[in-house]
Amino acid sequence: AITSVTGRRILDSRGNPTVEVDVELADGSLGRAAVPSGASTGAREAVELRDGDPARWHGKGVDRAVDHVNTEIATAVTGREAEDQAGLDATLIALDGTPAKARLGANAILGVSLAAAKAAAVAHRLPLHRYVGGVEARLLPLPMMNIINGGAHADNPLDFQEFMIAPVGAKTFAEAVRMGSEVFHTLRADLLAAGHSTGVGDEGGFAPALRTAEEALEFVVAAVERTGYRPGEDIGLVMDPASSEFFRDGVYDYAGEGVRRTPREHADYLAGLVDGYPIVSIEDPMAEDDLEGWRDLTARVGGRCQLTGDDVFCTNETLVRDGIRTGVGNSVLVKVNQIGTLTEALATVGTARRGGYTVVMSHRSGETEDTTIADLAVATSCGQIKTGSLSRSDRTAKYNQLIRIEESLGERALFAGREALARG
Ligand code: PGA
Ligand code: ZN
Repeated sequence: AITSVTGRRILDSRGNPTVEVDVELADGSLGRAAVPSGASTGAREAVELRDGDPARWHGKGVDRAVDHVNTEIATAVTGREAEDQAGLDATLIALDGTPAKARLGANAILGVSLAAAKAAAVAHRLPLHRYVGGVEARLLPLPMMNIINGGAHADNPLDFQEFMIAPVGAKTFAEAVRMGSEVFHTLRADLLAAGHSTGVGDEGGFAPALRTAEEALEFVVAAVERTGYRPGEDIGLVMDPASSEFFRDGVYDYAGEGVRRTPREHADYLAGLVDGYPIVSIEDPMAEDDLEGWRDLTARVGGRCQLTGDDVFCTNETLVRDGIRTGVGNSVLVKVNQIGTLTEALATVGTARRGGYTVVMSHRSGETEDTTIADLAVATSCGQIKTGSLSRSDRTAKYNQLIRIEESLGERALFAGREALARG
């Protein structure tokens, strides 16, 4: 049973405060979880409670969320069984009492939900992926590595937020990491040679002052080739334009490029990129409020490219169910803090699967050293993970945890590779 719940304020990778929670059980087992934070958040995400006092932390304090953990929530869950994840999460949801966890804060609730799961895993002497996923949990995810940052994650003119590589031809997760790292370092040299900055953005990818997606894609393809890999066959390209961020008044406003595109022109532009480059997956190709655009693009491009919904679904089972019914994309991004409890995140994964959609486990642009999502990717056998670049410990911590999990599984380990991707 849970004997203590302790919330505290720690720093995330951007240097902003975030919530960390310790859950301790009667047998001494300790579970600890730190909560991530987004910059290009979806409108329908669970509420991240911030203090809003401009005199402290520029308004980003999480003192109230931490207080909620240490008072109301601690009182409600102390004495409960950590193994009863569904019951515990239902208690947290009821205690909050609002549809989007706005009263206690999804950051407070998620910290407790994940820390309880981790404590229970320790009590069972099981690694988290095995505790949550059982003996079947042995599929290592295809990583989508974000090597060029733009949009809300960097101070450059690039309108699109993320340019990633996915080593679809790797045989193991460890090999995928090696391939990604090699390309990352080639890209660094190429950018330097071309006179660009090699400073990195929020997710550890380079943030050169490029203006168009084509420029970024050309650098990525060249780096893949120069490293000795075949674009498409060995390494697929992935983009997250984070289109909700630049959709205003019914138009996609590419401020960096200095162009405005109607939904139809924006979809045409993306379809053209899919034709011209070995792109295997696009996340949030269309804005969360442009469902017509989403359906149009899915009908035209969904048969040859994975289209993953982030902002449009917000890891929300109801939104995913609606999307499946109406032909929005063919894949779901899962960010545990978008919904706020482990139980709900796992339910979303199940609903996506049953609808024939693929699932991509994901970090946030504000992260910590917490590696829970690495275990959840294996626990759910979802087959794909997006967790940033091949630099910065907040990103590489997840890759490193997956390397350890693959090693621990030994001969039983499987690597998802290309098969994990949705293709129509
Ligand atoms: P975030 O966005 O900044 O909200 O974490 C990352 C993403 O769009 O996938
Ligand atoms: Zn996204």
